[in-house]
Amino acid sequence: MTERTLVLVKPDGVERGLIGEVISRIERKGLKIVAMDLRMVSQELAAQHYAEHDGKPFFNSLIEFITSGPVVAAVVEGPRAIAAWRQIAGGTDPVEKAAPGSIRGDFGLETQFNLVHGSDSPESAAREIKLWFPNL
Ligand code: PPS
Repeated sequence: MTERTLVLVKPDGVERGLIGEVISRIERKGLKIVAMDLRMVSQELAAQHYAEHDGKPFFNSLIEFITSGPVVAAVVEGPRAIAAWRQIAGGTDPVEKAAPGSIRGDFGLETQFNLVHGSDSPESAAREIKLWFPNL
C-alpha cells in the first residue's frame, strides 16, 4: 500500500552537512521524494507540529531547537513509507534505541540532536503533511 510520510532534516542535520546523506538513503531504499524545501520554521508551525508534546519537560527546548536554523522538509512516498523511513532514521535516542546503520545510529549522540524527524502513524503523517505542505 502506497503511503506518504513527512521527513524533516532538523537544524543539526542541516548544520552538519547531512542533507545529501539523508536524501541518498531515502532514494536508495526506493522511496520517492514528492515535495521538498529548505526553510526556517516559525514558532507557530513548531508549536503546531509538536502540539502532542506540549507540557512535557522537553517541549520548550524542542521548539527552540527546531526554530534555531534552517530545516529541510520533505514528503516521501512509497509502499509502507512511514515504517520504512522510521527504519532508515533509527530510534529516537541515537545511542540507546537507534541501530547502527540507521541515520541516528550512525551520526547521532543525543536525543535532542537526533538529526531527523518522521511521522509515527498514518494519522500523524496526514496531519503533518497538511501542516507543512498545505498546497500538496
Ligand atoms: S515521547 O515522550 O515518547 O512521546 O517522546 P518521543 O516520541 O520519544 O519524542 C518526541 C520528540 O521529542 C524529542 N525528544 C526530546 N527532545 C529533547 N530532550 C529530550 N529529552 C527529548 N525526548 C524526546 C524527540 O527527538 C522527538 O522529536 P521528533 O522530531 O518527533 O523526532
